Amino acid sequence: MNSKDQKVLVSTFEKEVYEGLTAFPKYLSSKYFYDEIGDELFQQIMALPEYYLTRAEYEIFTTHKSAIVQSFDKNREGFDLIELGAGDGKKTKVLLEELSENDYDFAYNPIDISENAVNGLVKNLNQEMPKIIVQGQIGEYFEVLDRLKHMSDRKKVIMVLGSNIGNLLHPRAIQFLKKLCNAMHDNDLIFMGFDQKKHPQKVLDAYNDKTGVTAAFNKNVLARINKELGGNFDLDKFMHWESYDPENGTAKSYLISKEKQTVDIDSLSLQVHFEAWESIHTEISQKYDDDIVKWLAKESGLKIVESFSDTDKGYKDYLITKA
Ligand code: AVI
Repeated sequence: MNSKDQKVLVSTFEKEVYEGLTAFPKYLSSKYFYDEIGDELFQQIMALPEYYLTRAEYEIFTTHKSAIVQSFDKNREGFDLIELGAGDGKKTKVLLEELSENDYDFAYNPIDISENAVNGLVKNLNQEMPKIIVQGQIGEYFEVLDRLKHMSDRKKVIMVLGSNIGNLLHPRAIQFLKKLCNAMHDNDLIFMGFDQKKHPQKVLDAYNDKTGVTAAFNKNVLARINKELGGNFDLDKFMHWESYDPENGTAKSYLISKEKQTVDIDSLSLQVHFEAWESIHTEISQKYDDDIVKWLAKESGLKIVESFSDTDKGYKDYLITKA
C-alpha cells in the first residue's frame, strides 16, 4: 500500500494526510478545509438559512452589546481584545463599535490561521473604524497561545467565537483551555461561544444544507490533496454525510466512498484503497449545555462568570475567568 520508507514527509499537511488515510477507520482534520476556496465556502455557509450559529451569535451581540463590553472592562483599566480565529470579523465589529463609541481604552488583535482573512480584516477595519488600534497576527490556535504570554502586560480579553471550540473533542478542548488558562493573568477573561444542544434535526440541517455548500466545503480537503499533494481523488465518487448523536451532543461529518476504488497521492508515494461505503471522518462540531461548559471550565482551572444567550437559547457566549 505504501512506500513511506523511501519518502521524507516534510509538511504537517503531508504527515497528517498520510497518518489519516493509512489509519483504520480513516480520518482527515477539518483544519484542512480552509484555503482560499474553503474560506469562501465557509463565508457562504455562514449566510445559509440552515446555518443558524452565526445569526444567533450576531443576535446576542446586537442585543447585549452594552452589557458584554462592560463585562470586559468593569474598572475601565484598558485592555487588549485578542480574537482567536477571527475570520471576517463581521460579528466582532458590533462589539468594536460599541467599545469605540463608549471610549473604552483598548486595542484589537485578530488572529487567524488564514493570512487572507487577517489581512482583509485589518485593511477593512483601518478603513471603516480608523480610530481603533488593530494589529493582526497569523497563526494556529495552539501555537498562538505560546505567544500570548509574551504579549503586553495589559489586561487581556481572549475571544473565541462561532463555537470554534466545538471542532475539538473534549480532551483536546480541555488541553486548549488549560493552555489558555496558563497564559492568563488573574484578571484576564475569556469570552467564548458554545453552540447548545437543540432539536437534532436542526443540527443535522445546519451541516447538510440543501444547496450542497457544506458538502463542497467538506470535499475541499480532497481537492486540496489533489492540488497540493498530487492526488487524484474523483470528488464525485465521494459523498458528504452528517450524523448527530443527541446523547453526547456530537455532530460528525464524513466523506463516504460511493464505490470500491483506489486513489494515488503522488507526493506521499501512497495508494489509498477504499471499499464501497467506507468512510473518512473529517469534522466534529460539538454541541453543549451549561453543565458540559461548566465541566470543561473546571477541568481546565477556569470558571464561568456570566453567560449571554440568544432568544431561542440555542447558542451562548460565556464569560470565563481563572478559577
Ligand atoms: C468553524 N466551525 C465552528 C464550523 C462548525 O460549525 O463546526 C465549521 C463548519 N463545518 C460545517 N459547517 C460549518
